[in-house]
Amino acid sequence: MLLNIEHVKKSFAETEVLRDISLHVEEGEFVALLGPSGSGKSTIFNLIGGIMEPDDGAITLNHKVIHGKRGLIGYMPQQPSLFPWRTVLENIVLVQELTGKPNRQEAKEWLEKVGLQEFENAYPIELSGGMKQRVAFIRAMLSKQNLLCLDEPFSALDEFTRISMQKWLLSVWETNRKSILFVTHSIEEALFLADRIYILTKRPTMVKEEVIVPFARPRDESLLNTEPFFHLKQKIFKQLKDELDEGL
Ligand SMILES: Nc1ncnc2c1ncn2[C@@H]1O[C@H](COP(=O)(O)OP(=O)(O)OP(=O)(O)O)[C@@H](O)[C@H]1O
Ligand SMILES: [Mg+2]
Repeated sequence: MLLNIEHVKKSFAETEVLRDISLHVEEGEFVALLGPSGSGKSTIFNLIGGIMEPDDGAITLNHKVIHGKRGLIGYMPQQPSLFPWRTVLENIVLVQELTGKPNRQEAKEWLEKVGLQEFENAYPIELSGGMKQRVAFIRAMLSKQNLLCLDEPFSALDEFTRISMQKWLLSVWETNRKSILFVTHSIEEALFLADRIYILTKRPTMVKEEVIVPFARPRDESLLNTEPFFHLKQKIFKQLKDELDEGL
């Protein structure tokens, strides 16, 4: 098991956010997190990324406790957080500068793959929200860590760019098989991409359900129009809706 989160709790002052979270990601696995807004998905990522520490419970990577340790995972935060004084290319190679030798050629190839080759010398202020997301995404991909944590990486993209980025992510993942933990609000996206999905309750948050996604790989868009896909999508939709309806 690559990442293991066991009985993690986290509160902010009076607000109990994570009540009891246990989840894991196997080597080479693609796992999605689905849950209501404010349920603590980004908080889980901040804990894994070492930006915060859990109040209780344990987070291990390769069986080692990683509380408060940064730089062990490839992390794409929900806000792309690019440095405004660095160009696109220099933002991408930043993590590599910190950990070793920056590979600008590789960064350029990735920019081309996501259609941003003309922007390598642009500054973040010149980019749209979706472009910034793509840059932050490449930076996470190039971090050379075995686990990538992607927090709603495609949320700012239009429908067509999103589908092409999803397909592209799948093809990259199918060749290099890094482990991915992926937050999304889109049930369809989770079902299209993931091997397993954790559905979270609302705050104070626990894991409500673990769904094993049964669809064969490689997957393509035709899957989205099949009866089993639609059926599972409806089932998860109902679980999330029940969660939100409760107590209203
Ligand atoms: N550093 C912090 N200090 C205080 N409260 C925080 C902090 N970080 C998160 N919270 C609170 O924790 C709760 C969960 O926030 P979080 O951003 O993890 O939710 P989320 O599931 O990622 O939501 P969304 O789907 O909207 O991105 C919210 O109530 C938020 O206000
Ligand atoms: Mg979030």
